[in-house]
Amino acid sequence: MNTLLNWNEYNEKGDIPVFTPPPPKVVPVFESNSTQNWPTPDGKNHPLTSQSHIVEVVETKSEYKTTTHTQHTVPAAGLEDLTMGAARIRVDDKKIINCHADLNQLVPFKYPWAWDKYLSGCANHWMPGEINMAADIKLWKSEDGLTEDERMVIKRNLGFFATADSLVANNLVLAVYRHITNPECRQYLLRQAFEEALHTHAYQHVIQSLGMDEAEVFNMYREVPSVATKAIWALPYTQSLSDPTFQTGTPENDQRLLRDLIAFYVVFEGIFFYVGFTQILSLGRRNKMTGTAEQFQYILRDESMHMNFGIDVINQIKIENPNLWTPDFQQEVREMIKVGVELEHQYAVDTMPRGILGLNAQMFESYLHYIANRRLAQIGLAEMYPGAENPFPWMSEVLDLKKEKNFFETRVTEYQTGGALKWDEE
Ligand SMILES: [Fe+2]
Ligand SMILES: [Fe+2]
Repeated sequence: MNTLLNWNEYNEKGDIPVFTPPPPKVVPVFESNSTQNWPTPDGKNHPLTSQSHIVEVVETKSEYKTTTHTQHTVPAAGLEDLTMGAARIRVDDKKIINCHADLNQLVPFKYPWAWDKYLSGCANHWMPGEINMAADIKLWKSEDGLTEDERMVIKRNLGFFATADSLVANNLVLAVYRHITNPECRQYLLRQAFEEALHTHAYQHVIQSLGMDEAEVFNMYREVPSVATKAIWALPYTQSLSDPTFQTGTPENDQRLLRDLIAFYVVFEGIFFYVGFTQILSLGRRNKMTGTAEQFQYILRDESMHMNFGIDVINQIKIENPNLWTPDFQQEVREMIKVGVELEHQYAVDTMPRGILGLNAQMFESYLHYIANRRLAQIGLAEMYPGAENPFPWMSEVLDLKKEKNFFETRVTEYQTGGALKWDEE
């Protein structure tokens, strides 16, 4: 079956607003004022047609002096030609988007929160192979150790996450990175990208350890609607931004970047992961699939920091560009979060139609409302679900959303590099 899936096919009720990315905006080519041909890595000379800057070559004695005149409507990418002897970077030169200063100089820091998260991410380094999967393999291969409903929850979650983390990584590297024009934030983005690779590695490690049909699991996001839906919702946001001609620098395009960041950091990593995390961690709390649950717990710790970093970036963009945060845009963000909650609730229903482990879809609806209120507050919007309560207080103990690190300290004795997570009983 080669049918292409799209979001509208899964929005059968037709009552969920759909974001349709605007057509790519073509950035005019910046004409060179020089007839100089520039030697390129392929050894040929090509006419100079850089989109981002004009280059003049001035011969001074025995060396070439290169001068770059940055076009003020095109932000720096970090690959511009060097300006020998240019003024040193000052903190005030740095901007989170649309910066024109050199992006290859990490210091002086303007956003210490980004550097702190980078250091915390490094301190929390772990590898999937360090976790003992022996008990999981034994349980998975036993005939009566798990119910069919429990098996379905495990397989569906591996199916969702195995491709979801890849999607997040691709969004980071191919869509977002270029437009975040700050070295310390980029340093964290590089760390996050590696962590996403580790997460995909972890899911593959679990799938392989349990002897699952790898093709079946990795294809779920194209074959199983409940797994596919969330990826289909998110794809237009990254597709819109990954267009190579896309540039920030106009209110419309800056909002497109902000929209992508909210879709991925607040909705995808901040809402779409939470039913699956809760389901798998519930198994672990009942001494089932403890190795898999431990993998998920390490991943959840990373994801919590990803989300908090993303929220810091979003809020910093708002501070530096208050014109973007219009009432219409705020309403659009609220709709995105509302749709995210509805899709994640549907995922809970689809993965757990009869309820398992003392969990049911109704509890997840309440939990998602609680989480959505937190996310809205974190980006400065009013709560959408007044009075929503958290039916899984143990999740808050595992993951205190206010904390960016050390949030396992109440239940886990060691968590940094080389340490093993230990489960406390309920
Ligand atoms: Fe991840
Ligand atoms: Fe992530």
